[in-house]
Amino acid sequence: MTITLLQHKRIVLAVTGSIAVYKAVDLASKLTQAGAVVDVIMTESAQKFVTPLTFQSVTGRSVYTDLWQTDHAGGLPTHIAHVGLGEGADLLAVIPATAHTIAKLAAGMSDDLLTVTALAARCPLIFAPAMDGGMYQHAATQHNLRTLVERGAILIEPETGRFASGLIGQGRLPETPTLIGAIRRALARQGALAGQKVVVTAGGTREAIDPVRFVSNHSSGKQGYAIAQAALDAGAEVSLISTIQSLPVPIGATLIPVNSAQEMLNAVLTESAQADILIMAAAVADFRPETIADQKIKKTDETRGLTLNLTRNPDILQTVKQGREESGFPRIVVGFAAESENLVANAQSKLARKGLDFLVGNDISASDAGFAVDTNRVILLSKAGEPETLPLMSKTEVGEYLIDRIARYTAIDR
Ligand code: CTP
Repeated sequence: MTITLLQHKRIVLAVTGSIAVYKAVDLASKLTQAGAVVDVIMTESAQKFVTPLTFQSVTGRSVYTDLWQTDHAGGLPTHIAHVGLGEGADLLAVIPATAHTIAKLAAGMSDDLLTVTALAARCPLIFAPAMDGGMYQHAATQHNLRTLVERGAILIEPETGRFASGLIGQGRLPETPTLIGAIRRALARQGALAGQKVVVTAGGTREAIDPVRFVSNHSSGKQGYAIAQAALDAGAEVSLISTIQSLPVPIGATLIPVNSAQEMLNAVLTESAQADILIMAAAVADFRPETIADQKIKKTDETRGLTLNLTRNPDILQTVKQGREESGFPRIVVGFAAESENLVANAQSKLARKGLDFLVGNDISASDAGFAVDTNRVILLSKAGEPETLPLMSKTEVGEYLIDRIARYTAIDR
């Protein structure tokens, strides 16, 4: 799967001698598949676990192992490989990082290709410690970690779990999706929305009938999650207010789980009080059961049916609109419109009525767009310009397009 943010990004993946090296092979492979250009440096002890050929096979590029070697086919004049490798790189990732290498980096030592490259590089350094729990907790290691972080390096915290030794503690290298998530955050630091707070809502609200049942709709939350990921990739700080439990939360987002429209309203008001951008991708139920039964509603042999009385839910965007008139926050508000007929006309009136800067209109009658599927066919309306009809896109692409449009708009707005 390609990842827009990683396209053509040059990542130097420095691999040190830990059993977790096998996870770095998967990482190198996934980064390459995502579109990054991955140059691997291996320390001598890393090569005891895995051969350079393994990394070369997954990256399709030369692997660098020796400060003094001059016969690489990778195109770098290798007597200055350390300078060349670090120079053009967008990120230096030391994954897995042993206690030994962390100590050398903290001390600014330069006795192998990895440490020399780290000193020569001008790009950010991200590192993921992997070691036994006792080694990780040792005062010396903790001191070295702090030194690196204070110097601006980005630490990927190790996870707690069972080690190869059989012991349990903190020191395990996280799995590939977590590592890629952290790498994305590091690369996004200069993004168009860096320093901005974005609130995204996702999923259909669940309106309780009794302790076990609810009324809801078909919204899968996928479009909202894709928008949250796109905002993260643009460098934003993201709060994701969601009714969905089954989708992986984009790494770096703060998840605020909610169920009902009322809970979502409260969360939106709290989160967006200081936010730059609010994107209401959630399918908020317009009605909820008038009363919620305390106990599960039982049927008897005589029960033939059940009538539910529904009452109106608050309109979250209308409430935000009123507050915004006084506070000025959130600075930008984006709504969605799910329509089954007259898409453009209905969407246009919703944009005006709800006081929105942008509105994403969905034709829910199309089978390749809208609920549950991975693709979407939308129109994008803005307060400022003509409606845009976008072609069939993946929800990821729609999210990225929307975030790009918003980022350009905020740049003018400021
Ligand atoms: N929305 C909201 N609060 C509600 C209902 C909807 O904030 N109680 C938001 C949705 O998150 C979406 C936008 O309003 O961003 C439009 O939602 P939609 O269901 O299409 O419109 P409604 O306002 O409910 O209008 P209608 O159902 O009449 O089309």
